[in-house]
Amino acid sequence: MPAAVKVPFIDLKQRYDEEKTELLACVERVVSQGHFVLTQEVNEFEAQAAKYVGVKHVIGLNSGTDALMMALWAYGVGKGDEVITTPVSFVATTGSIVHVGAKPVYVDVRDDQNIDASKIERAITPRTKAIMPVHWTGRIADMDAIMDIARRRKLLVIEDAAQTMGAYYRGRHGGSFGQAAAFSAHPLKNLNALGDGGFMGTNDDEVARKVRLYRTHGLESRDSVVMYGVNSRLDSLNAEVLKFRLGRLKSVVDRRRANVALYRKLVKQGPIQLPAEREHEHSSYVMFIAQAERRDQLKDYLAERGIESLVYYGTALHLHKAAASLGYKRGDFPVAERQCDRVLALPHHQHLAQDQIAYVAEAVNKFYG
Ligand SMILES: Cc1ncc(COP(=O)(O)O)c(C=O)c1O
Repeated sequence: MPAAVKVPFIDLKQRYDEEKTELLACVERVVSQGHFVLTQEVNEFEAQAAKYVGVKHVIGLNSGTDALMMALWAYGVGKGDEVITTPVSFVATTGSIVHVGAKPVYVDVRDDQNIDASKIERAITPRTKAIMPVHWTGRIADMDAIMDIARRRKLLVIEDAAQTMGAYYRGRHGGSFGQAAAFSAHPLKNLNALGDGGFMGTNDDEVARKVRLYRTHGLESRDSVVMYGVNSRLDSLNAEVLKFRLGRLKSVVDRRRANVALYRKLVKQGPIQLPAEREHEHSSYVMFIAQAERRDQLKDYLAERGIESLVYYGTALHLHKAAASLGYKRGDFPVAERQCDRVLALPHHQHLAQDQIAYVAEAVNKFYG
């Protein structure tokens, strides 16, 4: 029989308990007025999020996946184009490229699990149109080097900033470096909606205008369709919730960072490596992914002690069945592949108590003896 859970990986119920009064007030405000689509709440959230990230426009959408696709679409990336990206991400990064008709071209990652900028230039061909770095786990990719390559080689940079709210690089918020960035407000993100949600950020007026139209069927007004679009609107209720939670984001990230700092103090590193932070980085720790020897045994050992952990992810994107037509094989991205055998996300969310972290750290230390 599995042990009773002592340290849950995530606990969204606790978040509800903490925020119940304010969340119910959000529901009351929106529901009582009887308007749910593209209302003032959405405009207000967009303005506040744009200010927070440091971009001119934010457009509320129904997911981070749509934000990725719309950014590519709005910049005309499509059939015959290549987009350079990383094999270490959630599948949506690659999926968005495929869905606009372009080809994903992978570049291996560094030890920090983000794209290795020193290998990007080798992957550029005359068809390359964009680079799509992923700020994996809320740690910003090497944007100085990536933006330098993009400027020299005249490429777009579309940031997969799905995990990025609350993360900085040289004091600048993630998602403010490239031409556009896609953010997710999925329930497991630091800035999370009650269900799915997302948004795109950009400084480009024309791209913002296009995406605003595209998300709502190309409707310029109720009776004027200027292009064919889709339905991908951030709903008003979630906009109101995100406005409230944006005000709490710093506290969520700070508490997660404090938990990570405690892990760093307590876990004896060696066979297990915790993600470090470079001087210019301020990570948001959407996930806290260690790289561990004998990972699967460690995971079982923790589970026996009531500690939940998760493998994020055990398969690099180029090795999935869906990627067969891309023509990659095992061995093409050795750093990413090796990490897939070692990665283990430990519980670090903001509702954990210090003694729970200490309990996990003690179990990890005991496992490695
Ligand atoms: C790196 C990354 N990209 C894209 C997405 C897709 O975002 P969404 O789930 O909001 O569509 C996610 C969400 O999990 C993600 O983690």
